[in-house]
Amino acid sequence: MTIAAPRSPFDANDTQGLLFPAGPDAQHFPRTRYQGSKRKLTGVILNHLRSLTYDSVLDAFGGTGSIAYAFKCIGKRVTYNDVLAFNEQIGLALIENDSVRLANDDVESVVTAQPGRSYGCVIERRFGGIYFTDAENRWLDVAVANIRAIDCRFKRAIAWFALIQAALAKRPYNLFHRANLYMRTADVPRSFGNKASWDRSFEDHFRAFVRAANAGIVDGGEKGGCRAVCFDALDVPGEFDLVYIDPPYINQNGVGVDYRDFYHFLEGMQNYDAWAGMIDARSKHKRLLRRPDPWSNAAESASAFERLFARFRKSTLVVSYRSDGTPSLSELEAMLRKIKRNVRLIEGERYQYALSTKRATREALLIATD
Ligand SMILES: C[S@@+](CC[C@H](N)C(=O)[O-])C[C@H]1O[C@@H](n2cnc3c(N)ncnc32)[C@H](O)[C@@H]1O
Repeated sequence: MTIAAPRSPFDANDTQGLLFPAGPDAQHFPRTRYQGSKRKLTGVILNHLRSLTYDSVLDAFGGTGSIAYAFKCIGKRVTYNDVLAFNEQIGLALIENDSVRLANDDVESVVTAQPGRSYGCVIERRFGGIYFTDAENRWLDVAVANIRAIDCRFKRAIAWFALIQAALAKRPYNLFHRANLYMRTADVPRSFGNKASWDRSFEDHFRAFVRAANAGIVDGGEKGGCRAVCFDALDVPGEFDLVYIDPPYINQNGVGVDYRDFYHFLEGMQNYDAWAGMIDARSKHKRLLRRPDPWSNAAESASAFERLFARFRKSTLVVSYRSDGTPSLSELEAMLRKIKRNVRLIEGERYQYALSTKRATREALLIATD
């Protein structure tokens, strides 16, 4: 395949094929809505790594899996990691899974209550009036139990993928950060089209996302060996030729993205039996009790970077970053120069994230090799 030369180091709007130097397969990566997804940048990022020699890759903060998937599509042995359990399911479905798809009868077994199966009511009882309607909450309680009953772990993961994406598609801002069901239900004039997506049934969304996931299953090739794990990035076992690092973003005012907080409902579904005991009862929107993470804390993130770079110092280190992050780009560059002989900083055009209302900042990539 011929790949055109980039027009700028980070041309996020290029649709001429540059976005997908990972080959035609990479275009099948399902479209999702997630904070900080690099889906639109995968081609650009991979282009910058083309001169490097590597086989095994760790995507240490995998999120949607967009980057892990692109590496898989160019035949790399990828380990997808994310600290959140719901994301691990996405990694299992799209990265570790080479061939299993969810069949029509599997889909029916999720969307309909099964005779003889007992169903919990955690969502109906705890989340009334917060995110979804009562009928939708009951549907979710049934779907969660049905998914947990699927034997094959890859099929189960595809079903989780579809349920997670359905829940995100039906949420204002695609987040669970506020008790704002009223935004959906209020009878007011609207100048935007999200309401149709919010009101589309869970079942319809679920079926559509199963189709998207099934179409996105790619074979990792003869080498195989792609996998998905769920660790704190510092604790991922093993050694890798290249480690891709795309941690939560902390802006220059020190405000970070706490993914567990934004997506607590999805994490709760993964821990259904223990969920009620994990909820911070004082919060109006029933988030999970907080668990400190240095990657979303401005006072601790620099030392977390230092520890991560030290842990994987034998690997080529590739960091996705933003021009106005905390710690600053130059601080990160200096940290890498202490342990690596060659450090390349690529700064791109101004780029505004799909879900961001903030002023556009520049995307950046740091590539550190021996
Ligand atoms: C910027 S997002 C990654 C986006 C991803 N590259 C993509 O294209 O979708 C950061 C991810 O780091 C994960 N994360 C946060 N703290 C973590 C930790 N301590 N270890 C591993 N992953 C973590 C979050 O759950 C989130 O999915």
